[in-house]
Amino acid sequence: MRKKVIAGNWKMNMLPNEAIDFITEFAPLVKDTKHEVILCVPYTDLFYALLHAQGTNIKIGAQNMHWEEKGAYTGEISAQMLKSIGVEYVIIGHSERRQYFAETDETVNKKIKSALANNLKPIVCVGETLEQREQGVTEKIITTQVEKALEGISAESLAQIIIAYEPIWAIGTGKTATKEDANDTIKQIRKKIAEIYGQNEAERVIIQYGGSVKSSNAKELFEMSDIDGGLVGGASLKPEEFSKIVKFDE
Ligand code: 13P
Repeated sequence: MRKKVIAGNWKMNMLPNEAIDFITEFAPLVKDTKHEVILCVPYTDLFYALLHAQGTNIKIGAQNMHWEEKGAYTGEISAQMLKSIGVEYVIIGHSERRQYFAETDETVNKKIKSALANNLKPIVCVGETLEQREQGVTEKIITTQVEKALEGISAESLAQIIIAYEPIWAIGTGKTATKEDANDTIKQIRKKIAEIYGQNEAERVIIQYGGSVKSSNAKELFEMSDIDGGLVGGASLKPEEFSKIVKFDE
């Protein structure tokens, strides 16, 4: 049985004092959950979030990183830097980074390798545009993204990776993929992983759904056979709302 992993992606929101207030209110609400809970926060919140999440069951993640360890890359943060302050997870290849910051399948692959080399767990995002969905090429787009992201990565390392299927047309739009569509696409991802790594690995890998997840639809999505939790944007900014998503089955 795969566990459910529910991660919040705060994107470019929350000042440190807001992050501290959030965790103070949120931690007691989710303290008894059996699911894994992660908050992926802006760089400027990381230190405060780590401090205030100490002694709780909340794990902290970043939202991006550079693939080099160090060097002349003004404004960038490396996996080693994230690890050095105690960060456990890092989102890689979010569609907003692919769209606005020239992230490609190649940079995604390099970042995943660097994250793994530094014992950070990557949450790797894949997803199709509305146009691609309407053209009927979703499966091709998604499986190609997965294949390129995982190029050269061992089966052993795969166990450290979470994949998040986030259809771009469902992000921040209030439009959620139907639970059947989301489940089907995630099954296709699992099939691709089975082709590369074998059936056992495919059965073990955690694959989340993301895109307008809220407390009112979390249960129906997360109870589907292949959806192992969610990557939540807007609805992860409110402690009570996000706690209801984490406790979708209570
Ligand atoms: P929303 O939940 O706001 O649609 O964002 C999803 C997302 O992009 C999470 O990474």
